[in-house]
Amino acid sequence: MGDRELIRAAFAVRENAYTPYSHFKVGAALLGKSGKVYVGCNIENASFSPTICAERAALAQAVSSGEREFEAIAIVGSMENQVNTLPTSPCGVCRQALFEFGGNSLRVILAKSEEDYQTCTLGDLLPLGFGPKNLES
Ligand code: THU
Repeated sequence: MGDRELIRAAFAVRENAYTPYSHFKVGAALLGKSGKVYVGCNIENASFSPTICAERAALAQAVSSGEREFEAIAIVGSMENQVNTLPTSPCGVCRQALFEFGGNSLRVILAKSEEDYQTCTLGDLLPLGFGPKNLES
Protein backbone atom coordinates (compact mmCIF):
# COMPACT_ATOMS: atom_id res chain seq x y z
CA MET A 1 0.00 0.00 0.00
CA GLY A 2 1.69 3.17 -1.21
CA ASP A 3 0.97 6.77 -0.28
CA ARG A 4 -1.03 7.35 -3.45
CA GLU A 5 -3.36 4.42 -2.82
CA LEU A 6 -3.94 5.57 0.74
CA ILE A 7 -4.72 9.08 -0.48
CA ARG A 8 -7.13 7.63 -3.05
CA ALA A 9 -8.96 5.77 -0.28
CA ALA A 10 -9.22 9.01 1.70
CA PHE A 11 -10.70 10.83 -1.31
CA ALA A 12 -13.19 8.00 -1.86
CA VAL A 13 -14.53 8.02 1.69
CA ARG A 14 -14.64 11.83 1.71
CA GLU A 15 -17.60 11.47 -0.67
CA ASN A 16 -19.62 10.08 2.25
CA ALA A 17 -18.91 12.98 4.61
CA TYR A 18 -22.09 14.24 6.30
CA THR A 19 -21.55 17.97 6.47
CA PRO A 20 -24.82 19.95 6.29
CA TYR A 21 -23.43 22.66 8.60
CA SER A 22 -19.84 23.38 7.62
CA HIS A 23 -19.94 21.95 4.07
CA PHE A 24 -16.29 21.05 4.69
CA LYS A 25 -15.74 17.42 3.71
CA VAL A 26 -12.89 15.35 5.11
CA GLY A 27 -11.73 11.82 4.40
CA ALA A 28 -9.12 9.81 6.27
CA ALA A 29 -7.53 6.46 5.48
CA LEU A 30 -5.57 4.75 8.24
CA LEU A 31 -3.11 2.01 7.32
CA GLY A 32 -2.80 -0.69 9.98
CA LYS A 33 0.39 -2.67 10.55
CA SER A 34 -1.59 -5.69 9.28
CA GLY A 35 -1.76 -3.97 5.88
CA LYS A 36 -5.50 -3.32 6.16
CA VAL A 37 -6.91 0.14 5.52
CA TYR A 38 -9.63 1.72 7.65
CA VAL A 39 -11.48 4.74 6.40
CA GLY A 40 -13.57 7.47 7.98
CA CYS A 41 -15.34 10.67 7.07
CA ASN A 42 -16.57 13.55 9.20
CA ILE A 43 -20.08 13.19 10.56
CA GLU A 44 -21.65 16.42 11.72
CA ASN A 45 -24.55 16.92 14.10
CA ALA A 46 -27.26 19.55 14.57
CA SER A 47 -26.08 19.91 18.14
CA PHE A 48 -22.54 20.57 16.80
CA SER A 49 -20.40 19.14 19.62
CA PRO A 50 -21.20 15.47 18.81
CA THR A 51 -19.50 15.99 15.41
CA ILE A 52 -16.92 13.32 14.70
CA CYS A 53 -13.86 14.13 12.62
CA ALA A 54 -12.81 11.85 9.78
CA GLU A 55 -9.62 10.80 11.55
CA ARG A 56 -11.43 9.62 14.66
CA ALA A 57 -14.09 7.90 12.56
CA ALA A 58 -11.29 5.92 10.84
CA LEU A 59 -9.64 5.17 14.19
CA ALA A 60 -12.95 3.92 15.63
CA GLN A 61 -13.40 1.59 12.67
CA ALA A 62 -9.85 0.27 13.03
CA VAL A 63 -9.93 -0.32 16.76
CA SER A 64 -13.41 -1.85 16.50
CA SER A 65 -11.93 -4.28 13.95
CA GLY A 66 -9.19 -5.26 16.37
CA GLU A 67 -6.31 -3.22 14.89
CA ARG A 68 -4.29 -1.07 17.30
CA GLU A 69 -1.00 -0.44 15.54
CA PHE A 70 -0.69 1.85 12.56
CA GLU A 71 1.80 2.84 9.89
CA ALA A 72 0.24 5.91 8.34
CA ILE A 73 -2.84 8.04 7.91
CA ALA A 74 -3.80 10.01 4.81
CA ILE A 75 -6.09 13.01 5.27
CA VAL A 76 -7.87 15.03 2.60
CA GLY A 77 -10.31 17.86 3.13
CA SER A 78 -11.88 20.79 1.35
CA MET A 79 -15.12 22.66 1.01
CA GLU A 80 -17.79 20.89 -1.04
CA ASN A 81 -17.19 21.23 -4.76
CA GLN A 82 -13.87 22.96 -4.27
CA VAL A 83 -10.30 21.89 -4.76
CA ASN A 84 -7.89 21.99 -1.89
CA THR A 85 -5.89 25.12 -1.38
CA LEU A 86 -4.48 24.22 2.03
CA PRO A 87 -3.62 20.80 3.39
CA THR A 88 -6.08 19.59 6.04
CA SER A 89 -4.12 18.91 9.18
CA PRO A 90 -5.74 16.93 12.00
CA CYS A 91 -7.34 18.93 14.80
CA GLY A 92 -5.90 18.80 18.31
CA VAL A 93 -8.44 16.27 19.54
CA CYS A 94 -7.62 13.90 16.65
CA ARG A 95 -3.88 14.29 17.24
CA GLN A 96 -4.43 13.22 20.84
CA ALA A 97 -6.72 10.34 19.84
CA LEU A 98 -4.15 9.02 17.34
CA PHE A 99 -1.28 9.48 19.81
CA GLU A 100 -2.88 6.87 22.07
CA PHE A 101 -2.11 4.18 19.48
CA GLY A 102 1.62 4.26 18.78
CA GLY A 103 2.70 7.75 19.74
CA ASN A 104 5.20 9.77 17.74
CA SER A 105 6.00 7.47 14.85
CA LEU A 106 2.74 7.46 12.84
CA ARG A 107 3.31 8.91 9.35
CA VAL A 108 0.78 11.60 8.55
CA ILE A 109 0.09 12.31 4.89
CA LEU A 110 -1.58 15.67 4.27
CA ALA A 111 -2.81 15.55 0.71
CA LYS A 112 -4.24 18.06 -1.72
CA SER A 113 -4.28 15.43 -4.46
CA GLU A 114 -2.66 12.06 -5.14
CA GLU A 115 0.34 13.88 -6.56
CA ASP A 116 0.49 16.91 -4.27
CA TYR A 117 1.02 15.99 -0.65
CA GLN A 118 3.35 16.45 2.28
CA THR A 119 4.25 14.06 5.04
CA CYS A 120 5.24 14.46 8.66
CA THR A 121 4.99 12.39 11.80
CA LEU A 122 2.47 12.58 14.59
CA GLY A 123 5.38 13.56 16.83
CA ASP A 124 5.90 16.63 14.63
CA LEU A 125 2.22 17.55 15.06
CA LEU A 126 1.97 16.75 18.76
CA PRO A 127 5.36 17.27 20.42
CA LEU A 128 5.70 15.96 23.96
CA GLY A 129 2.36 14.20 23.64
CA PHE A 130 0.69 12.78 26.71
CA GLY A 131 -0.02 9.09 26.29
CA PRO A 132 -0.32 5.66 27.88
CA LYS A 133 3.34 5.71 29.03
CA ASN A 134 2.55 8.64 31.30
CA LEU A 135 0.13 6.44 33.23
CA GLU A 136 2.56 3.56 33.78
CA SER A 137 3.45 3.11 37.42
N1 THU B 1 -12.73 18.08 10.46
C1 THU B 1 -12.25 16.81 10.29
O1 THU B 1 -13.02 15.89 10.03
N2 THU B 1 -10.92 16.60 10.44
C2 THU B 1 -9.99 17.58 10.60
O2 THU B 1 -8.82 17.28 10.67
C3 THU B 1 -10.41 18.98 10.69
C4 THU B 1 -11.87 19.21 10.80
C5 THU B 1 -14.16 18.33 10.26
C6 THU B 1 -14.97 18.67 11.48
C7 THU B 1 -16.12 19.43 10.87
O3 THU B 1 -17.09 18.51 10.42
C8 THU B 1 -15.52 20.11 9.65
O4 THU B 1 -14.32 19.43 9.37
C9 THU B 1 -15.22 21.60 9.85
O5 THU B 1 -14.49 21.81 10.99
